[in-house]
Amino acid sequence: MSNVRIGLVGAGVIGARHIGAIDQCDGVELVAIADPMATKAQADVPLFMDTQAMLSQVKCDGVIVSTPTEHHLSPTLAALEAGAHVLVEKPICATVEEASQIVACCAETKRHVLVAHQRRYYPQVEQAREIIRDGLLGPLVAVSGQWTLRKHETYYDPDWRKKWQAGPIVTNLIHDMDAIRYICGEVHSVMAETGNPVFGWEKEDVAALTLRFESGALGSFILSDQTTSPWTWEMALGENISIPKTNQNAMRFMGRDASLEFPNLVLWKHEAPPHDWTQPLVSEALNFEAEDAYTVQMRHFAQVIRGEETPRIDAADAQRSLAATVAVMESARTGQRVILR
Ligand SMILES: NC(=O)c1ccc[n+]([C@@H]2O[C@H](COP(=O)([O-])OP(=O)(O)OC[C@H]3O[C@@H](n4cnc5c(N)ncnc54)[C@H](O)[C@@H]3O)[C@@H](O)[C@H]2O)c1
Repeated sequence: MSNVRIGLVGAGVIGARHIGAIDQCDGVELVAIADPMATKAQADVPLFMDTQAMLSQVKCDGVIVSTPTEHHLSPTLAALEAGAHVLVEKPICATVEEASQIVACCAETKRHVLVAHQRRYYPQVEQAREIIRDGLLGPLVAVSGQWTLRKHETYYDPDWRKKWQAGPIVTNLIHDMDAIRYICGEVHSVMAETGNPVFGWEKEDVAALTLRFESGALGSFILSDQTTSPWTWEMALGENISIPKTNQNAMRFMGRDASLEFPNLVLWKHEAPPHDWTQPLVSEALNFEAEDAYTVQMRHFAQVIRGEETPRIDAADAQRSLAATVAVMESARTGQRVILR
């Protein structure tokens, strides 16, 4: 079988991780890079100034789009129209309307878009979803979560990082929202407040949100990039080498019969009948074996390209995660509940 040929648009921080993942996958080959800032030191393949130049000169079966979010749309449409399948970084686009254009283009070109919500490739995400779907918690009643840490001061030196587009809702909450949707089911509506008690810039320092799920369960979530606290997905797992690991869980899924801490899975239930507050609660740490999520994602992308699998998260699915995330900003701005459609 011939190698799957991949072109990369945007060879920055995350682009480099995708190059690393390609190197780990048999039968997958990086064949070109489009990025005006790329150098031969990053990969010894032909370099191009833009996507169209790359697509017109190099045959690509798949294209990875890891440009800044506001530049996802045009390379994604160009790659689909050239007949390639696409792996686009999260969030799929800057706006829900742009995401609709990608959904429509997939249907017209009969090509797939896989969106790089890499948390979906962690075994504990799949395991948490199965536990809830299989009813091990009983009916899901409540969800509580947080993503609270303190980013370094120089992070905010560039003026664009002071704008709402670089705030923790758009940059970070999108990951948690996607995981929550995947694990707990669709979000019906969102109510939220945002605040700027630290910097007073356009971007929020803190957000508090309430979620209503289609199942009837309720959830709450606190988000801040200006708190000294150990509770985020990255800290729980040590996923990002720049953010030290704390092992502290960041979410709890609570059902009538049991609860689950996440992402280091710990199941809590009553020791014996009657299963109520008169009985001691016992906890059980669940085992899972993790593989590098970017490598698993790349292997999956190659299988999508070969027609062996369909995307684990396609454009329409990622559009719903984006809609639920931007609903937080809309609710905070208007003071109204936002119902998702
Ligand atoms: N999945 C994750 O956990 C994760 C983490 C960080 C960033 N991201 C996403 O990855 C994307 C890129 O982020 P980053 O941190 O790698 O940014 P970056 O600034 O490090 O890299 C972006 C690269 O794109 C290039 N570029 C800009 N416009 C271009 C264009 N029109 N055509 C070709 N190249 C272009 C730039 O020269 C740069 O090299 C963003 O959408 C971001 O949200 C995802």
